[in-house]
Amino acid sequence: NVESRLYQSNDKSPLQIFVRAKKKINDIYGEIEEYVHETTTFINALHTEAEIVDKAERELFESYVYKVAAIREVLQRDHMKVAFFGRTSNGKSSVINAMLREKILPSGIGHTTNCFCQVEGSNGGEAYLMTEGSEEKLNVVNIKQLANALCQEKLCESSLVRIFWPRERCSLLRDDVVFVDSPGVDVSANLDDWIDNHCLNADVFVLVLNAESTMTRAEKQFFHTVSQKLSKPNIFILNNRWDASANEPECQESELAKVKSQHTERCIDFLTKELKVSNEKEAAERVFFVSARETLQARIEEAKGNPPHMGAIAEGFQIRYFEFQDFERKFEECISQSAVKTKFQQHSSRGKSVSGDMKSMLDNIFERITIFRNLKQDQKNLLTERIQGTETQMMQVTREMKMKIHNMVEEVEEKVSKALNE
Ligand code: GTP
Ligand code: MG
Repeated sequence: NVESRLYQSNDKSPLQIFVRAKKKINDIYGEIEEYVHETTTFINALHTEAEIVDKAERELFESYVYKVAAIREVLQRDHMKVAFFGRTSNGKSSVINAMLREKILPSGIGHTTNCFCQVEGSNGGEAYLMTEGSEEKLNVVNIKQLANALCQEKLCESSLVRIFWPRERCSLLRDDVVFVDSPGVDVSANLDDWIDNHCLNADVFVLVLNAESTMTRAEKQFFHTVSQKLSKPNIFILNNRWDASANEPECQESELAKVKSQHTERCIDFLTKELKVSNEKEAAERVFFVSARETLQARIEEAKGNPPHMGAIAEGFQIRYFEFQDFERKFEECISQSAVKTKFQQHSSRGKSVSGDMKSMLDNIFERITIFRNLKQDQKNLLTERIQGTETQMMQVTREMKMKIHNMVEEVEEKVSKALNE
């Protein structure tokens, strides 16, 4: 039941913009590839049979074939990438788990995530890990084993572990969203490497803050560097652990509202005035107050067929749960539009230029074929004319010969009869 609801809602998901665009562009490239193969056969025949196409041209055409194949391969691997950053223990891994509806990534107090973890969909129901620089698939039977494997792998904090999780377990993975979890920005001195190695192709960044405190310098600095390296990155800010604030015994509702508006103002200022990545209106749609722990709990209950509030931790659960869903909706819209633009625009303009080059090459060949055909026709005409001339000549000669023979015969006859008479 929950599964069918997931599928239904998923069909209306904004992620479908990306999914449909990917299918369409893949189909178009499939057609281009077929066309390119057909044309190759034709070009090769022109080379061997008629010598209209030379070796260099044939090789040039072959390079188009490789280009199309290479684009197709990249296209098949294209996905939407979201990267999560923030200070240790703010709940980055918990937010990802809440979005995946399952506790996949290890989370806990203290410094938990010790290297980059990328969660992506796998086909055929398989779950496994892959570490950087190795092709080996480390099978994962259950989540506990995954957590242990992540702890045991002695990895450098900026290296990457790829976690492949069955696509059918989560609609986001099915629709090609890839999650990147990071260690706390406060524990690393290699932030530049992080950005260069893991962030340059991210479509969306999520800054996970702790709503109980304010944004730190390390968090701010990290995003300053990101926005220097990327033009207008899409950044969402989650003020996480909002349930904990609601749970504060001495915190009145009015005081909570005050804290919320203070945080909101700071976050909007950060996006608009400091980073200059969004305008006021857009920034207001990018700041949320949520509880990842509660949301994950609610979803685990829902999967069991229970009402979501069975996972509630504190007062005001429903509002926080809605806000998390609102975040997901806006995130899905943003990531699919951004990925279509950055990824497919590039492929379609490269495709256009390759097909343009191929067209002008074929036009050129066609022109040569036309000239060649006309030349052949001229030769043929000349030959026909010559043959016709020869024919008339022959007829003339034959006629003359006939006359000569006739005369000769008559002469001989005359001579013979004359001799006989004599
Ligand atoms: P590192 O990987 O160490 O950088 O931390 P992280 O940002 O991934 O945080 P993680 O998800 O491991 O969460 C840290 C602790 O906070 C865990 O014990 C979570 O259960 C708890 N936590 C996460 N989100 C929430 C929340 O919304 N509310 C409450 N009350 N606790 C949360
Ligand atoms: Mg973590």
